[in-house]
Amino acid sequence: MKRQIFVLLSLATLVVFLMAWAADSRKEWVGIQERFNARAAKPEPIGIRQIMVAPLNRIDRCTTCHLAIDRPKAAQAEQPFTAHPGDYLKSHPVEKFACTVCHAGQGLATTVQAGHGEVRHWEQPLLRGALVQSSCAKCHGDLETIKAYAPMLVRGRQLFKEEGCIGCHALHGFGQTVSVDLSEAGSKNLHQLDMTFVKGPHTLSQWLYEHFKDPQRITPGFTRQELPQGEMEIAPTAMPNYRLTDEEAQALTIYMMSLTDEQVPGKYVKSLAAPEPPITTENAVAYGRAVFDKYGCVGCHGQNGQGGRNNWNAVDGQQVPALTYVKAGYTKEALKAFIARGSQPLAKLDPHGPSPSLYMPRWQEKISDEELNALVEYLYRLAPDETASAAPTP
Ligand code: HEC
Ligand code: HEC
Ligand code: HEC
Ligand code: HEC
Ligand code: HEC
Repeated sequence: MKRQIFVLLSLATLVVFLMAWAADSRKEWVGIQERFNARAAKPEPIGIRQIMVAPLNRIDRCTTCHLAIDRPKAAQAEQPFTAHPGDYLKSHPVEKFACTVCHAGQGLATTVQAGHGEVRHWEQPLLRGALVQSSCAKCHGDLETIKAYAPMLVRGRQLFKEEGCIGCHALHGFGQTVSVDLSEAGSKNLHQLDMTFVKGPHTLSQWLYEHFKDPQRITPGFTRQELPQGEMEIAPTAMPNYRLTDEEAQALTIYMMSLTDEQVPGKYVKSLAAPEPPITTENAVAYGRAVFDKYGCVGCHGQNGQGGRNNWNAVDGQQVPALTYVKAGYTKEALKAFIARGSQPLAKLDPHGPSPSLYMPRWQEKISDEELNALVEYLYRLAPDETASAAPTP
């Protein structure tokens, strides 16, 4: 009997709680609409507004508060009463696109925090500012066509190419498998990420941003002393610290966020990804350099093969070797054969420590014989010119 009373009381409390919560959340949007009406020339009826777009599977209630989003005259008002910036709603009419396809957030919710998806258990928080650009790629595969509107997204993709990320990561079937496949890096669930060392909000975009700024802070190593007895030391991540500026780290974050598993119906696809421009093959050294970039050798060996990437517990100075002196150590044939074969596993500096995370991948099946020949010409050219750099005689 006591138990039943307890259950009933708990239920009653819960109901009161829920009613209070519902009334509260109602108060919020009603208050916002009343505030809007107080200053509007013509008052709007109080009520929830929603935009339904069946093909995109969206029911968005954002316009319950963003009442003037499609009224250019409201450009100067304060949030949430401003008009939408730019021509976005002209090229993407509200009734055909709604809001969350670009902004994420929680379409159905009617409080500010929940609507913006800035609550626990909602995995797609509102994309504010430049982060919105990460949504464009699912419909505009050819990024060059929207370069003026999504400059950070385009910059991120360019950095991805320049830094040779593909040397360690695969993307849509291209690249190496030394580390994680990035084809769906923007769809990652929060529980798959370790937020222990993230300082800002615990969101995917924040994790990516802080990881780009300082990978070893977000994914550090642990010495044997820090771990339970008998466990093997863990090396810090082999993801290079590129010393990126804040803007570069944000651009890469936006590009990563654009890599999702989301599929939109065909009629919403404005353009498909353009094929990579072909490599010019007339000049063997330039050709070889393009091959070096294409396969992401830069990722491990650095720009122009200068080295500098950490490889914890590798015999060779705990770094991936620079390639500036391979001319001295290999004939052209031997160099070709080495690249084709790769080198794995690497010897450990401390035999009780972890295996070095980076190794020289096997390129045999990936790089054509013709490309290998060009690559060797390029690598030979990296050797400093002996006559020019010879020390002057005293
Ligand atoms: C209950 C009212 C309400 C709902 C629902 C709502 N918003 Fe907002 N929105 C606001 C308010 C208030 C602000 C200003 C405060 C802030 O930035 O959080 C705002 C700000 C914004 C901003 C501007 C942020 C900035 O950096 O200036 C964006 C973008 C936005 N909302 C998009 C959305 C989208 C998309 C939805 C639907 C998924 C949505 N909002 C739903 C009330 C709401
Ligand atoms: C085609 C994509 C797209 C759609 C659809 C879209 N937006 Fe936006 N929105 C953007 C972009 C891009 C920005 C500009 C971000 C920046 O550069 O600051 C933006 C900015 C905003 C802002 C910030 C305004 C400011 O003054 O900073 C608000 C609020 C907003 N959008 C609300 C909405 C609402 C509500 C909807 C649905 C009715 C919507 N958006 C639909 C792309 C879109
Ligand atoms: C859900 C798919 C979708 C998303 C997301 C989307 N667009 Fe579009 N966009 C389209 C389609 C489709 C058109 C063509 C509309 C038409 O012709 O009626 C278009 C048109 C445009 C145009 C007009 C010029 C042109 O090429 O026709 C620009 C600019 C543009 N989009 C930029 C963007 C940017 C920037 C973003 C991200 C903030 C974005 N779009 C997000 C589908 C999308
Ligand atoms: C995932 C990291 C990684 C990538 C990507 C990579 N390498 Fe390596 N590479 C290594 C490591 C580690 C070694 C050292 C191997 C050893 O010590 O046995 C190495 C060794 C070499 C060597 C021998 C250097 C020497 O001093 O003996 C050459 C040449 C070389 N790599 C060329 C390339 C080329 C060309 C590419 C691109 C097609 C490439 N590497 C991509 C990690 C990488
Ligand atoms: C030398 C190899 C190497 C290169 C080059 C490299 N990464 Fe990584 N990356 C790693 C390793 C190892 C991890 C996994 C450990 C961790 O979380 O840091 C990783 C993790 C990541 C993650 C997190 C993935 C996930 O799902 O956990 C992202 C995103 C990422 N890298 C993006 C990039 C980008 C973008 C570039 C180029 C600017 C790049 N990486 C270059 C080795 C590399």
